[in-house]
Amino acid sequence: MRQQVLVTGGAGYIGTHTCIELLANDYDIVVVDNFSNSKPAALSRVQKIAGRDFVWYEADLRDRIAIERIFAKHKFCGVLHCAGLKSIDRAERDPLRCYENNLEASISLIETMQRHDVKRMVFSSSATVYGESARVPYREESPLAPNTVYGRSKMMVETLLHDLVHADESWNIAILRYFNPVGAHSSGLIGEDPDGVPGNLMPYICQVAVGKLNHLSIFGHDYPTPDGTGVRDYVHVMDLAQGHFKALRQLSESPGLLTVNLGAGRGYSVLEVVRAFEAASGRKVPYRFAPRRPGDIGSYYADVTRATEVLNWRAQRGLLEMCVDSWRWQSQNPDGYV
Ligand code: NAD
Ligand code: WQD
Repeated sequence: MRQQVLVTGGAGYIGTHTCIELLANDYDIVVVDNFSNSKPAALSRVQKIAGRDFVWYEADLRDRIAIERIFAKHKFCGVLHCAGLKSIDRAERDPLRCYENNLEASISLIETMQRHDVKRMVFSSSATVYGESARVPYREESPLAPNTVYGRSKMMVETLLHDLVHADESWNIAILRYFNPVGAHSSGLIGEDPDGVPGNLMPYICQVAVGKLNHLSIFGHDYPTPDGTGVRDYVHVMDLAQGHFKALRQLSESPGLLTVNLGAGRGYSVLEVVRAFEAASGRKVPYRFAPRRPGDIGSYYADVTRATEVLNWRAQRGLLEMCVDSWRWQSQNPDGYV
């Protein structure tokens, strides 16, 4: 019999791609999402790609009664906890909403898991927890000093998970710190579908290339990097999805708490991304230099030694493939999931 995994936030960007990977690896999945930043259509596309049906529920993780009902109906072997609010800007403007969705919702979910003796979780954290104090490349032991509300909400959940394992060793948890996820499934059927003007680089470039936005503003070209523009560790979302599957498998073999960076282990500048995207799409991406974005760090990327050694995971897809897949999704779905 197949093992059943609950995927919270499974209709979102990372959730949908991770669902595909789990279905391909013969898990059964159940999705719970409140669709605050996604659409049910994304789940139909996942079913189409996978050629398999699965159960999904429209519910908010903070709704304890609804979540309790879901746990009463299914026997989960574990939970992939991807649900959360990721907008840095919105979190600064409305910290309570961010903490409610990222911290309170996690507490509520964990309590329900505990009641049903489901003690295996993979948690979506972020490289943003390192903040500015760490030296590059970031290692899992590097100091944490997030400089945003969003980053602190992720750090708080990480702390909570550590305390949980400390108090009860039968918990089995993987904290995955994603670097900069980009790209899309090679079918072009699912991808990142931002609400409004994108805040992140790749979806912004995509919308310039497809003609929805005039030009890209490059935030800063006076950083101490080879071409002066910001450097980040971009990782293909399908590689990331595979990292979730491997983390889940690893958890069943060795209990405890594992924190792992998921990045490609190298950085690319904004200008390198623009050039790769132009090569991948055959479109020009007009850009203008603009002042640095407040709170931005010049350059960071992951040390991926632990992911390689413990999970036997390494990002396989390079920058060009990330751009090709992002462009396929964007050009086939100029208005996202409609
Ligand atoms: P996303 O917004 O596309 O997906 C998150 C999903 O969670 C959405 O479908 C949303 O509707 C759902 N959701 C939010 N609050 C919920 C709640 N209270 N109850 C039920 N569902 C809820 O974001 P994503 O890019 O797929 O990110 C997934 C996770 O990874 C998030 O926790 C995010 O913070 C984290 N993360 C994302 C990135 C990134 O750049 N995309 C990087 C690091 C970490
Ligand atoms: C990448 C580079 C920008 C937009 C964010 C979160 C992080 C994680 C991933 C959730 C930087 C530059 C961007 C634009 C630009 N998310 N840029 N013009 O800021 O590295 O990380 O997303 O956990 O927590 O902070 O990603 O894609 O916004 O920026 O020049 O219009 O592109 O300055 O150098 P970032 P990003």
